[in-house]
Amino acid sequence: MSKPVVVVTRRWPNAVEERLMDVFDARLNDDDHPFSPQELVDAIKTADALMPTVTDKISADIIGTAGRKARIIGNFGVGFNNIDIDAAKKHGVVVTNTPEVLTDCTADIAMILLLSVARRIGEGERHLRGGQWTGWRPTHMMGQKVSGKTLGLIGYGRIAQAMARRALGFGMTLIYYDPYVDAAKLDKSVPATAVSSIDEVLAQADFVSLHCPSTPETRHLINSESFAKMKPTAFLINTARGDIVDESALIAALREDVIQGAGLDVYEKEPKVPADLLKMNNVVLLPHLGSASTQTREAMGMRVLTNVEAFFAGKTPPDRVV
Ligand code: DGY
Repeated sequence: MSKPVVVVTRRWPNAVEERLMDVFDARLNDDDHPFSPQELVDAIKTADALMPTVTDKISADIIGTAGRKARIIGNFGVGFNNIDIDAAKKHGVVVTNTPEVLTDCTADIAMILLLSVARRIGEGERHLRGGQWTGWRPTHMMGQKVSGKTLGLIGYGRIAQAMARRALGFGMTLIYYDPYVDAAKLDKSVPATAVSSIDEVLAQADFVSLHCPSTPETRHLINSESFAKMKPTAFLINTARGDIVDESALIAALREDVIQGAGLDVYEKEPKVPADLLKMNNVVLLPHLGSASTQTREAMGMRVLTNVEAFFAGKTPPDRVV
């Protein structure tokens, strides 16, 4: 029996590509170039499954392409805001994602950003490498203490709860706001207090960390009014999606000392990072590294395979979102 044809839009870890070639008639992207919209259309017209990543915009036009052959989109990523879900529903295209396997690594990066921005890690490293360090002195590069501070989580799903567990090790007080929280899936061992509004998180937290999906409802959820409600000593941490934050408002808030700093892994127009942010010392900037460990990226790829294999075996893919 012939194997299903699958198109993979970027290079995946070797171990996963090897398995892909065993299981499917896989068309790989050997030079790892970003697919153009036309290449996505060609793929969806000629393959049985499309395996994009979070940077491939799978629009309604692409899903609605006349003569589309692909019946499943196995997204390499937990966030699926890159895919027009309404169009997928309309055209009966199954969409899957890769939850759970990236929870720990993404929470690690959120905690790294929190620690780094509070304790001026990036700035300190640049200072030393730039040959500016003249020696220890009592007032040199004083940052903010983390232990005992309040961490406010906006969105309290898997990654937020994993970050909360890490923050407990730093003796932090935990509060969260999540109107969609699934009580059955809450980690009851974490003493986090639910508050009834985002404003309460903004007003009380020393660190505000974002963990909600990117949807029309959450676009620019954090804006100039939000920054005005935060403590002037507070920090914003974003490992979720760039468009949850109004980036221009963030730049103004940082420049005018409305808040003290920010740790960012995601941006509104990736891979573009505003020049203003690049010049600021009170921000730590990472290139969307949340899930970027060998183990996690392999697990994400294997998760895509499990979903797509299940689909072609006539079963419901375990991580079906549509
Ligand atoms: C995701 O999976 O949604 C991340 O942003 C990439 O790891």
